[in-house]
Amino acid sequence: MRRILVTGGLGQIGSELVPFLRDKYGKENVIVADIREPTDDVGPFVKLDVRKEEDILKILKEEDIDTIYHLAAILSAKGEQNPQLAFHVNIVGMFNILEAGRKKGVERIMVPSSIAAFGPETPKDNTPNDTILKPRTMYGVSKVTGELLALYYWEKYGLDVRGVRYPGIISWKAPPGGGTTDYAVEIFYYAIRGEKYTCFLREDATLPMMYMPDAIKAITMLADAPAENLIHRADFNIAAMSFSPKELVEEIRKYVDFEVEYKPDYRQKIADSWPRTIDDSAARKEWGWKPDYDMPAMVKDMIENLKRKLNF
Ligand code: NAD
Ligand code: SER
Repeated sequence: MRRILVTGGLGQIGSELVPFLRDKYGKENVIVADIREPTDDVGPFVKLDVRKEEDILKILKEEDIDTIYHLAAILSAKGEQNPQLAFHVNIVGMFNILEAGRKKGVERIMVPSSIAAFGPETPKDNTPNDTILKPRTMYGVSKVTGELLALYYWEKYGLDVRGVRYPGIISWKAPPGGGTTDYAVEIFYYAIRGEKYTCFLREDATLPMMYMPDAIKAITMLADAPAENLIHRADFNIAAMSFSPKELVEEIRKYVDFEVEYKPDYRQKIADSWPRTIDDSAARKEWGWKPDYDMPAMVKDMIENLKRKLNF
Protein backbone atom coordinates (compact mmCIF):
# COMPACT_ATOMS: atom_id res chain seq x y z
CA MET A 1 0.00 0.00 0.00
CA ARG A 2 1.17 3.54 -0.73
CA ARG A 3 0.55 6.63 1.41
CA ILE A 4 1.13 9.66 -0.81
CA LEU A 5 1.44 13.39 -0.09
CA VAL A 6 1.07 15.80 -3.02
CA THR A 7 2.42 19.25 -2.14
CA GLY A 8 1.07 22.11 -4.25
CA GLY A 9 -1.72 19.65 -4.98
CA LEU A 10 -4.30 22.35 -5.80
CA GLY A 11 -2.23 23.64 -8.73
CA GLN A 12 -2.42 22.95 -12.45
CA ILE A 13 -0.63 19.59 -12.36
CA GLY A 14 -1.79 18.50 -8.90
CA SER A 15 -5.44 18.94 -9.89
CA GLU A 16 -5.03 16.14 -12.43
CA LEU A 17 -2.29 14.07 -10.79
CA VAL A 18 -4.28 13.62 -7.56
CA PRO A 19 -7.35 11.98 -9.21
CA PHE A 20 -5.00 9.73 -11.19
CA LEU A 21 -3.16 8.62 -8.04
CA ARG A 22 -6.43 8.18 -6.14
CA ASP A 23 -7.79 5.89 -8.86
CA LYS A 24 -4.67 3.79 -8.49
CA TYR A 25 -4.03 3.85 -4.73
CA GLY A 26 -7.39 4.80 -3.18
CA LYS A 27 -8.84 8.18 -2.23
CA GLU A 28 -7.84 8.04 1.44
CA ASN A 29 -4.20 7.21 0.59
CA VAL A 30 -3.52 10.36 -1.41
CA ILE A 31 -3.40 13.57 0.62
CA VAL A 32 -3.44 16.98 -1.00
CA ALA A 33 -1.28 19.63 0.68
CA ASP A 34 -1.29 23.28 -0.32
CA ILE A 35 -0.77 26.73 1.17
CA ARG A 36 -4.18 27.70 -0.26
CA GLU A 37 -7.51 26.49 1.10
CA PRO A 38 -9.50 24.45 -1.44
CA THR A 39 -12.63 26.11 -2.80
CA ASP A 40 -14.49 22.82 -3.17
CA ASP A 41 -14.25 19.28 -1.84
CA VAL A 42 -10.85 17.87 -2.82
CA GLY A 43 -10.90 14.85 -0.51
CA PRO A 44 -8.19 14.39 2.14
CA PHE A 45 -6.44 17.78 2.46
CA VAL A 46 -3.92 19.44 4.76
CA LYS A 47 -2.91 23.06 4.77
CA LEU A 48 0.88 23.20 4.47
CA ASP A 49 3.54 25.80 3.78
CA VAL A 50 6.62 23.99 2.44
CA ARG A 51 8.83 26.73 3.85
CA LYS A 52 8.23 25.13 7.27
CA GLU A 53 10.17 21.88 7.62
CA GLU A 54 8.70 20.98 11.03
CA ASP A 55 5.17 21.15 9.62
CA ILE A 56 6.13 18.88 6.72
CA LEU A 57 7.71 16.32 9.05
CA LYS A 58 4.67 16.38 11.33
CA ILE A 59 2.35 15.56 8.41
CA LEU A 60 4.66 12.85 7.06
CA LYS A 61 4.61 11.17 10.48
CA GLU A 62 0.93 11.68 11.27
CA GLU A 63 -0.17 10.38 7.87
CA ASP A 64 2.59 7.74 7.64
CA ILE A 65 3.58 8.97 4.18
CA ASP A 66 5.96 6.85 2.08
CA THR A 67 5.82 8.78 -1.22
CA ILE A 68 5.86 12.52 -1.88
CA TYR A 69 4.99 14.27 -5.13
CA HIS A 70 6.49 17.67 -4.47
CA LEU A 71 4.69 20.12 -6.77
CA ALA A 72 4.59 23.26 -4.60
CA ALA A 73 6.45 26.00 -6.46
CA ILE A 74 6.43 29.53 -7.78
CA LEU A 75 6.63 29.38 -11.58
CA SER A 76 8.91 31.32 -13.91
CA ALA A 77 7.00 34.54 -14.61
CA LYS A 78 5.68 34.94 -11.07
CA GLY A 79 9.18 34.10 -9.83
CA GLU A 80 10.71 37.00 -11.77
CA GLN A 81 8.17 39.33 -10.17
CA ASN A 82 9.18 38.09 -6.72
CA PRO A 83 12.52 36.25 -6.84
CA GLN A 84 12.85 36.25 -3.04
CA LEU A 85 9.55 34.37 -2.69
CA ALA A 86 10.63 31.95 -5.46
CA PHE A 87 13.91 31.31 -3.61
CA HIS A 88 12.15 30.51 -0.34
CA VAL A 89 9.34 28.37 -1.78
CA ASN A 90 11.36 26.58 -4.48
CA ILE A 91 14.83 26.21 -2.96
CA VAL A 92 14.21 26.27 0.80
CA GLY A 93 10.95 24.35 0.23
CA MET A 94 12.78 21.64 -1.75
CA PHE A 95 15.46 21.38 0.94
CA ASN A 96 12.77 21.09 3.61
CA ILE A 97 10.99 18.31 1.70
CA LEU A 98 14.26 16.39 1.35
CA GLU A 99 15.16 16.83 5.01
CA ALA A 100 11.70 15.90 6.28
CA GLY A 101 11.60 12.96 3.85
CA ARG A 102 15.01 11.77 5.02
CA LYS A 103 14.06 12.06 8.70
CA LYS A 104 10.75 10.23 8.22
CA GLY A 105 12.39 7.65 5.95
CA VAL A 106 10.06 8.02 2.97
CA GLU A 107 10.64 5.63 0.07
CA ARG A 108 10.40 8.03 -2.84
CA ILE A 109 10.13 11.72 -3.67
CA MET A 110 8.96 12.78 -7.13
CA VAL A 111 9.77 16.38 -8.04
CA PRO A 112 9.31 18.10 -11.38
CA SER A 113 12.15 20.10 -12.84
CA SER A 114 11.62 22.21 -15.95
CA ILE A 115 13.02 23.32 -19.29
CA ALA A 116 13.75 26.48 -17.25
CA ALA A 117 16.84 24.65 -15.94
CA PHE A 118 18.45 25.54 -19.28
CA GLY A 119 19.78 28.98 -20.15
CA PRO A 120 20.97 31.17 -23.00
CA GLU A 121 24.20 29.20 -23.50
CA THR A 122 22.38 25.84 -23.78
CA PRO A 123 22.01 24.46 -27.34
CA LYS A 124 18.46 25.42 -28.36
CA ASP A 125 17.62 22.63 -30.77
CA ASN A 126 17.41 18.99 -29.76
CA THR A 127 18.78 20.11 -26.37
CA PRO A 128 20.77 17.22 -24.88
CA ASN A 129 19.93 15.80 -21.46
CA ASP A 130 23.41 16.53 -20.10
CA THR A 131 24.37 20.01 -21.18
CA ILE A 132 25.09 23.56 -19.98
CA LEU A 133 22.77 24.57 -17.11
CA LYS A 134 23.14 28.32 -16.55
CA PRO A 135 19.57 29.66 -16.21
CA ARG A 136 19.03 33.38 -15.61
CA THR A 137 15.68 33.22 -13.82
CA MET A 138 15.30 32.52 -10.10
CA TYR A 139 12.87 29.76 -11.11
CA GLY A 140 15.53 28.17 -13.33
CA VAL A 141 18.16 28.52 -10.61
CA SER A 142 15.78 26.76 -8.22
CA LYS A 143 15.22 23.92 -10.70
CA VAL A 144 18.94 23.29 -11.22
CA THR A 145 19.42 23.43 -7.43
CA GLY A 146 16.59 20.91 -7.00
CA GLU A 147 18.12 18.55 -9.57
CA LEU A 148 21.51 18.70 -7.83
CA LEU A 149 20.00 18.26 -4.36
CA ALA A 150 18.12 15.20 -5.63
CA LEU A 151 21.39 13.66 -6.79
CA TYR A 152 23.11 14.63 -3.54
CA TYR A 153 20.44 13.08 -1.30
CA TRP A 154 20.44 9.90 -3.40
CA GLU A 155 24.21 9.46 -3.20
CA LYS A 156 24.62 10.64 0.40
CA TYR A 157 21.51 9.15 2.05
CA GLY A 158 20.04 6.72 -0.51
CA LEU A 159 16.88 8.86 -0.63
CA ASP A 160 15.19 7.98 -3.92
CA VAL A 161 14.37 11.35 -5.52
CA ARG A 162 13.31 11.39 -9.17
CA GLY A 163 11.96 13.92 -11.62
CA VAL A 164 11.41 15.07 -15.17
CA ARG A 165 12.14 18.40 -16.80
CA TYR A 166 8.63 19.33 -17.83
CA PRO A 167 8.07 21.50 -20.90
CA GLY A 168 5.13 23.95 -20.78
CA ILE A 169 2.08 21.97 -19.69
CA ILE A 170 -1.24 22.47 -21.50
CA SER A 171 -4.50 21.46 -19.84
CA TRP A 172 -8.18 22.40 -19.61
CA LYS A 173 -9.18 21.33 -16.08
CA ALA A 174 -7.19 23.80 -13.91
CA PRO A 175 -5.58 27.10 -14.90
CA PRO A 176 -1.78 27.46 -15.07
CA GLY A 177 -0.08 29.19 -12.16
CA GLY A 178 2.08 32.01 -13.52
CA GLY A 179 4.52 30.60 -16.08
CA THR A 180 6.00 31.80 -19.35
CA THR A 181 4.13 29.09 -21.27
CA ASP A 182 0.70 30.03 -19.85
CA TYR A 183 -0.28 31.70 -23.14
CA ALA A 184 -0.69 28.22 -24.68
CA VAL A 185 -3.57 27.53 -22.28
CA GLU A 186 -5.13 31.03 -22.06
CA ILE A 187 -5.37 31.34 -25.84
CA PHE A 188 -7.91 28.47 -26.04
CA TYR A 189 -10.36 30.29 -23.73
CA TYR A 190 -10.26 33.39 -25.94
CA ALA A 191 -10.51 31.34 -29.14
CA ILE A 192 -13.57 29.42 -27.96
CA ARG A 193 -15.30 32.60 -26.77
CA GLY A 194 -14.43 34.24 -30.10
CA GLU A 195 -12.55 37.01 -28.29
CA LYS A 196 -9.37 38.73 -29.43
CA TYR A 197 -6.26 37.33 -27.68
CA THR A 198 -3.20 39.45 -26.92
CA CYS A 199 -0.22 37.10 -26.78
CA PHE A 200 2.62 38.08 -24.44
CA LEU A 201 5.19 36.16 -26.54
CA ARG A 202 6.35 36.83 -30.11
CA GLU A 203 4.61 34.87 -32.85
CA ASP A 204 7.81 32.94 -33.59
CA ALA A 205 8.69 32.04 -29.96
CA THR A 206 8.97 28.26 -30.35
CA LEU A 207 8.96 26.35 -27.06
CA PRO A 208 8.65 22.69 -26.01
CA MET A 209 5.15 21.82 -24.73
CA MET A 210 3.24 18.79 -23.46
CA TYR A 211 -0.42 17.87 -22.97
CA MET A 212 -1.45 17.07 -19.39
CA PRO A 213 -2.22 13.36 -19.90
CA ASP A 214 1.39 12.89 -21.03
CA ALA A 215 2.67 14.95 -18.09
CA ILE A 216 0.83 12.65 -15.67
CA LYS A 217 1.98 9.58 -17.58
CA ALA A 218 5.63 10.73 -17.45
CA ILE A 219 5.92 11.39 -13.73
CA THR A 220 4.01 8.27 -12.71
CA MET A 221 5.95 6.07 -15.15
CA LEU A 222 9.22 7.37 -13.75
CA ALA A 223 7.96 6.78 -10.19
CA ASP A 224 7.36 3.12 -11.06
CA ALA A 225 10.60 2.57 -13.00
CA PRO A 226 13.04 0.02 -11.56
CA ALA A 227 15.80 1.91 -9.71
CA GLU A 228 18.55 -0.19 -11.29
CA ASN A 229 17.59 1.11 -14.76
CA LEU A 230 18.07 4.78 -13.85
CA ILE A 231 21.29 6.62 -14.59
CA HIS A 232 19.73 10.08 -14.25
CA ARG A 233 17.70 11.16 -11.18
CA ALA A 234 15.56 14.33 -11.20
CA ASP A 235 16.92 15.67 -14.47
CA PHE A 236 15.23 13.70 -17.26
CA ASN A 237 14.46 15.63 -20.45
CA ILE A 238 11.02 14.67 -21.77
CA ALA A 239 9.51 15.89 -25.04
CA ALA A 240 6.17 15.68 -26.81
CA MET A 241 5.76 18.68 -29.15
CA SER A 242 7.26 22.09 -29.91
CA PHE A 243 5.46 25.01 -31.53
CA SER A 244 5.36 28.79 -31.81
CA PRO A 245 2.29 30.90 -30.93
CA LYS A 246 1.71 31.41 -34.68
CA GLU A 247 1.68 27.67 -35.33
CA LEU A 248 -0.71 27.12 -32.41
CA VAL A 249 -3.07 29.82 -33.71
CA GLU A 250 -3.09 28.21 -37.17
CA GLU A 251 -4.05 24.84 -35.66
CA ILE A 252 -6.78 26.33 -33.41
CA ARG A 253 -8.23 28.21 -36.40
CA LYS A 254 -9.04 24.85 -38.01
CA TYR A 255 -11.80 24.66 -35.36
CA VAL A 256 -12.68 28.23 -34.38
CA ASP A 257 -11.92 31.66 -35.79
CA PHE A 258 -10.49 34.37 -33.54
CA GLU A 259 -8.18 37.36 -33.70
CA VAL A 260 -4.68 37.49 -32.20
CA GLU A 261 -2.21 40.29 -31.67
CA TYR A 262 1.32 39.96 -30.35
CA LYS A 263 2.61 42.24 -27.61
CA PRO A 264 5.69 40.58 -26.13
CA ASP A 265 6.41 41.58 -22.51
CA TYR A 266 9.08 40.62 -19.94
CA ARG A 267 8.20 36.95 -20.45
CA GLN A 268 9.68 37.00 -23.96
CA LYS A 269 13.18 37.34 -22.46
CA ILE A 270 12.54 34.24 -20.34
CA ALA A 271 11.29 32.32 -23.40
CA ASP A 272 14.36 33.43 -25.37
CA SER A 273 16.59 31.70 -22.81
CA TRP A 274 14.83 28.32 -23.15
CA PRO A 275 15.23 25.55 -25.75
CA ARG A 276 13.09 25.17 -28.85
CA THR A 277 13.22 21.36 -29.02
CA ILE A 278 14.34 18.67 -26.58
CA ASP A 279 16.26 15.41 -26.90
CA ASP A 280 14.54 12.95 -24.57
CA SER A 281 16.52 9.83 -25.52
CA ALA A 282 17.74 9.24 -21.92
CA ALA A 283 14.14 9.02 -20.63
CA ARG A 284 13.17 6.76 -23.54
CA LYS A 285 16.12 4.47 -22.85
CA GLU A 286 16.09 4.40 -19.03
CA TRP A 287 12.33 4.07 -18.38
CA GLY A 288 10.59 3.73 -21.72
CA TRP A 289 9.20 7.26 -22.06
CA LYS A 290 7.00 7.94 -25.10
CA PRO A 291 4.32 10.65 -25.41
CA ASP A 292 0.80 9.99 -26.72
CA TYR A 293 -0.15 13.50 -27.89
CA ASP A 294 1.31 15.62 -30.68
CA MET A 295 0.17 19.19 -31.28
CA PRO A 296 -2.85 18.50 -33.55
CA ALA A 297 -4.15 15.78 -31.18
CA MET A 298 -3.72 18.10 -28.19
CA VAL A 299 -5.56 20.99 -29.91
CA LYS A 300 -8.48 18.74 -30.92
CA ASP A 301 -8.85 17.42 -27.38
CA MET A 302 -8.50 20.88 -25.78
CA ILE A 303 -11.18 22.37 -28.05
CA GLU A 304 -13.62 19.52 -27.44
CA ASN A 305 -13.21 19.58 -23.66
CA LEU A 306 -13.15 23.36 -23.26
CA LYS A 307 -16.23 23.81 -25.46
CA ARG A 308 -18.07 21.46 -23.13
CA LYS A 309 -16.66 23.11 -20.00
CA LEU A 310 -17.53 26.63 -21.21
CA ASN A 311 -20.90 25.57 -22.63
CA PHE A 312 -20.07 26.53 -26.25
P1 NAD B 1 0.95 25.76 -10.00
O1 NAD B 1 1.47 27.13 -9.85
O2 NAD B 1 -0.28 25.55 -10.80
O3 NAD B 1 0.72 25.09 -8.58
C1 NAD B 1 1.64 25.24 -7.54
C2 NAD B 1 0.90 25.09 -6.25
O4 NAD B 1 1.83 25.31 -5.18
C3 NAD B 1 -0.25 26.10 -6.05
O5 NAD B 1 -1.46 25.42 -5.79
C4 NAD B 1 0.19 26.95 -4.89
O6 NAD B 1 -0.88 27.36 -4.05
C5 NAD B 1 1.14 26.01 -4.16
N1 NAD B 1 2.12 26.70 -3.31
C6 NAD B 1 2.76 27.86 -3.56
N2 NAD B 1 3.55 28.19 -2.53
C7 NAD B 1 3.42 27.19 -1.62
C8 NAD B 1 3.99 26.95 -0.34
N3 NAD B 1 4.84 27.82 0.22
N4 NAD B 1 3.66 25.82 0.31
C9 NAD B 1 2.76 24.94 -0.23
N5 NAD B 1 2.17 25.13 -1.42
C10 NAD B 1 2.51 26.25 -2.12
O7 NAD B 1 2.16 24.86 -10.58
P2 NAD B 1 2.08 23.56 -11.48
O8 NAD B 1 2.01 24.00 -12.87
O9 NAD B 1 1.08 22.63 -10.95
O10 NAD B 1 3.56 23.00 -11.26
C11 NAD B 1 3.85 21.93 -10.40
C12 NAD B 1 5.33 21.64 -10.54
O11 NAD B 1 5.64 21.34 -11.91
C13 NAD B 1 6.26 22.80 -10.14
O12 NAD B 1 7.42 22.29 -9.56
C14 NAD B 1 6.59 23.42 -11.47
O13 NAD B 1 7.81 24.09 -11.42
C15 NAD B 1 6.66 22.21 -12.36
N6 NAD B 1 6.50 22.53 -13.75
C16 NAD B 1 5.30 22.98 -14.22
C17 NAD B 1 5.19 23.30 -15.56
C18 NAD B 1 3.91 23.79 -16.13
O14 NAD B 1 3.88 24.21 -17.30
N7 NAD B 1 2.80 23.77 -15.39
C19 NAD B 1 6.30 23.16 -16.42
C20 NAD B 1 7.50 22.75 -15.89
C21 NAD B 1 7.59 22.40 -14.56
N1 SER C 1 5.60 26.23 -17.76
C1 SER C 1 6.63 26.59 -16.85
C2 SER C 1 6.79 28.06 -16.79
O1 SER C 1 6.53 28.68 -17.80
C3 SER C 1 7.93 25.95 -17.25
O2 SER C 1 8.53 25.46 -16.12
O3 SER C 1 7.21 28.57 -15.79
